[in-house]
Amino acid sequence: MDWPFFALRLTFGEVVLRGVTDSDLSRLAELYPDDCEQDPSAERFTGLDPVRDRARRFVQGFWRNRGTWSPASWCLDLVVEVDGELVGLQSLEGDDFPLLRTTDSGSWLATHARGRGTATTMRTAALGLAFGPLGAVAAISSARTDNAASLAVSRRLGYADNGVSLTDTPTGVTRLQHLRLTRERWLADGHDVRISGADPCLPWFGLESS
Ligand SMILES: CC(C)(COP(=O)(O)OP(=O)(O)OC[C@H]1O[C@@H](n2cnc3c(N)ncnc32)[C@H](O)[C@@H]1OP(=O)(O)O)[C@@H](O)C(=O)NCCC(=O)NCCS
Repeated sequence: MDWPFFALRLTFGEVVLRGVTDSDLSRLAELYPDDCEQDPSAERFTGLDPVRDRARRFVQGFWRNRGTWSPASWCLDLVVEVDGELVGLQSLEGDDFPLLRTTDSGSWLATHARGRGTATTMRTAALGLAFGPLGAVAAISSARTDNAASLAVSRRLGYADNGVSLTDTPTGVTRLQHLRLTRERWLADGHDVRISGADPCLPWFGLESS
């Protein structure tokens, strides 16, 4: 199948990121943590019980991201493996990437895999693709102001605070902290992310493969 992300591998420290396949979905759904917020405006299927409906929205999200992929707007879903064990998800997103050269990201870890520094390692691996083969000029991120772990990962990697906005969530209006990491800061820190299988992916981002 001509979907090059299945062969993409990003390795940093003990973490390997690779494109999500359909055979990963059952395990990912089992690990999907309760504290991961979904889009509050996403459609509910009233005939499904809420737990199955949440899992349905979760799994459909992967197929949606593949089905709607365009260089103008994409979301790359990557499985996070530590010692060959699947422990979470790291995604990288871009809008108008060939023009703006800016990536956003999202992630979660299974609850048993938290508190070991893996979140920072997996974000670093994803940024290796963004600032390496994709040639990003900046990476952005945002998190609720009370999401201390997510904000700590960004700040540790050199993202600078970039303003606060208000957003509607299932638990009410909340404050969102925005952050931005520049290419210069990333290069100055010199992260050595090992990358294989990126070249065939470049046209998917609107870039020329070499
Ligand atoms: C966000 C998430 C991936 C982080 O994973 P984690 O394993 O807890 O993160 P780490 O152990 O790598 O810790 C990251 C940093 O946060 C810090 N941290 C964690 N919890 C903290 C807390 N309650 N207060 C202050 N700092 C905290 C850690 O000390 C660490 O900082 P350091 O590297 O400078 O020491 C995980 O909490 C998760 O899956 N959350 C649910 C989904 C989510 O919120 N995703 C992000 C949405 S934007």
